[in-house]
Amino acid sequence: MGIKADFREEEGIRKFLENKKKKYEKMNEKEKKEFDKDALENPYLDSRIYYIAEDKEIKKVLVGIDIEPAELLLSKEINGIDLIIAHHPIGKGLAHLADVMDLQCDVLNYYGVPINIAEGLMKERISEVARGVNSANHQRTVDAAKLLKVNLINSHTPCDNLAAKYLKDLIEERKPERVGELIDLLKEIPEYKEAMKIGVGPKVFVGDKENRCGKIALTEITGGTAGSPKLYEKMAQAGIGTVIGMHISEEHKKEAEMANLNVVIAGHMSSDSLGVNLFLDELEKQGIEIISCSGLIRVSRVK
Ligand SMILES: [Fe+2]
Repeated sequence: MGIKADFREEEGIRKFLENKKKKYEKMNEKEKKEFDKDALENPYLDSRIYYIAEDKEIKKVLVGIDIEPAELLLSKEINGIDLIIAHHPIGKGLAHLADVMDLQCDVLNYYGVPINIAEGLMKERISEVARGVNSANHQRTVDAAKLLKVNLINSHTPCDNLAAKYLKDLIEERKPERVGELIDLLKEIPEYKEAMKIGVGPKVFVGDKENRCGKIALTEITGGTAGSPKLYEKMAQAGIGTVIGMHISEEHKKEAEMANLNVVIAGHMSSDSLGVNLFLDELEKQGIEIISCSGLIRVSRVK
C-alpha cells in the first residue's frame, strides 16, 4: 500500500532498491557483513518488525502514534492484544529515519523543483537528521517489548504516503482557490474535525486565509521528517504557492515567510492518524480488532 501511494510510483521504488543493490554488490566482504540487508527489499527502513514474541495469528492489535514502554504495559491491561503497531519509528527504524528522506527529492521534483536543487539541499539535511537521531535511546521500547513478551512493529512512511495521496487526490478533485477554502476542505476530514475539538485543527501558519493558494504542494506530509528550510525559496521559484505540512519549526516558518509561500499546518497527530487509519482499514476488513492509543484518532472508512 505504501508503494502504491508513493510519489515515486512503483518504477521509482524499483530503481531506488536497485541502486541499493548495486552499492551492496560493490562492497567487500566486511562491508557486506555490516550492511543492513533489509535495505535490499524494504524501501522504508523507518518501518520494521522489532520483536516477535510469538508468531501467531493476529486478531487484536493495539495501535498508537508513539509507542513507549508505558503503552506496552497498557497492552497487558487489555485482554488479548496480539500485536502492537506504532506509527513513529523506534529501534533501528528510528536509526534509519534519514534513509526515507530521499523520497522528498522526488516529491519536490514532482512539484517542479529541479532534481539537482532538491538533491543538493536535501543531502545536507539528510545527514543532519541522521546525526540527530544517532544519540537516541533507540532500544528502550524494544527492550521493554522483549521483557513483556509482546509482538512489536511500526509503519511510518508507508502510512504517511497514504495520507499524502489521500490529501493530494482530495485537493486535486476539489481545487480550493483561497487558503481559507483549503482550510475548510481539510476541516471536513474527520481526523481534523476531532483535532479541532482540542484546538489543534488545520491552521494557517504562514500567509493569510484571503490569499490565493496557487499551486498546492504536499511536500511535507511524507518523507521522514522536515526537509531543508532553504527549500522554500526554491519551491516558490518552481511555482508552488501553498505548502501543506503536519508541523513546522520556527526556522522553517521564517524561510517560508521570506519566500511569500502560504503554509497550512494540517496538524501532526491528526495527519499521522489519517495515514495510519487508511492502513488499519485494510486490517479491519480482514476481521482484525483495532484498539487505539497514544494519540491515534481512529476513524474507520470501512463501510
Ligand atoms: Fe509524525
